[in-house]
Amino acid sequence: MPAIDAARFLGRLAALAEIGRDDKGRLTRLAASEADRAGRDVVAGWMREAGLDVRVDRIGNLIGLWDPAGTGSRPVMMGSHLDTVIDAGAYDGCTGVLAGLAVIEALRHAGRIPPRPLALAAFTNEEGVRYAPDMLGSLVYAGGLPVEAALATVGIDGTVLGEELARIGYAGPEAPGFLHPHSYVELHVEQGPVLERDGIAVGAVEDLQGISWQEVTIEGAANHAGTTPMSLRRDAGVAAALLVAWLRERARAGNGRSVATVGRLRLEPDAINVIPARAVLTVDLRDPDAGRLADFEADLAERLDALAREEDVTVTVRRLARFAPVTFDAGIVRAIEAAARARGLSVRRMTSGAGHDAQMMARLCPAAMIFVPSVGGISHNPAERTEEADLVAGAEVLRDVVMGLSGV
Ligand code: GLV
Ligand code: MN
Ligand code: MN
Ligand code: MN
Repeated sequence: MPAIDAARFLGRLAALAEIGRDDKGRLTRLAASEADRAGRDVVAGWMREAGLDVRVDRIGNLIGLWDPAGTGSRPVMMGSHLDTVIDAGAYDGCTGVLAGLAVIEALRHAGRIPPRPLALAAFTNEEGVRYAPDMLGSLVYAGGLPVEAALATVGIDGTVLGEELARIGYAGPEAPGFLHPHSYVELHVEQGPVLERDGIAVGAVEDLQGISWQEVTIEGAANHAGTTPMSLRRDAGVAAALLVAWLRERARAGNGRSVATVGRLRLEPDAINVIPARAVLTVDLRDPDAGRLADFEADLAERLDALAREEDVTVTVRRLARFAPVTFDAGIVRAIEAAARARGLSVRRMTSGAGHDAQMMARLCPAAMIFVPSVGGISHNPAERTEEADLVAGAEVLRDVVMGLSGV
């Protein structure tokens, strides 16, 4: 078996984790930022060193092709993303990109010529923190959003994605989707507690839950905190707080599969002695079942109407992202299970709670994902960690599955 160079793979993960640290030591590489540019530059350099033909498409997806047999046929693609959330860990995204690179290098070093080419993708703006929706680069790549519309997306900081990509030198010439993959396999850290809790080494991800993102704006009226009787207030902050509490109760009241999060909440004018005139908050709803997710959205819309009446506020909603649950390719899921078992690793089929580029690529070609355990189930947090042995085992399973798909 062509050996994964574990020291190089882990060393690169550590090196990438140093790119985008602020003066407090926090790692943040938001999409199309200066830090993202620096991370991309380093990874593109490693891809070229590995002999890949590196291209960038119009939405900034960085894609390397290794076609040593010169077949020009559809490649087996691996990939993930290099952008991060704010104050991030080191593994979300980078693991899949760097493991893919390690797989190609292993084959190359062993002198193996895959009959089907291999490709490696680092997709733009997977996290969706700076620009919505999340998985934006892979969504455009798969034809789910016109590139012009995606480039015009305005970020949370008022920037325009297309301008920022041009500024960092990653508004490439290729049409998104220019390489149509034969298949797509993504290694990712689980970002949840299941594998570690149950002592399982590998997750064979067979599906991924639906995601609904909305921004809710509540307008009340600013007034004096000391002089305005409680009965005469139009307090946007109170309405927002009631909504946050309702979301938690509604999620809990389901069968335990729905989750709801308010990750951003801003009050205006944001002063101690002024009744909030306005609240802007984000709502992230997820559920593996399409019907339950739609029911939750309908209940939320009803709750917002009622809240507007009860609290004498106006409520407007802007949809930021909406992705249905995705079922991955059964053949690749079986191949992941078989590869793990052949290496003596315990394996479990599972559902992904997080969004991933693989869910977009599944629109284009057979796709599936490999999960490795997250220590303590922690992610989107600087304490995010996966044991080195688990990372290397994941890369080896990726290698074995990709070798099967590419026929080498
Ligand atoms: C992206 O990481 C998401 O699942 O929110
Ligand atoms: Mn990720
Ligand atoms: Mn993430
Ligand atoms: Mn994600």
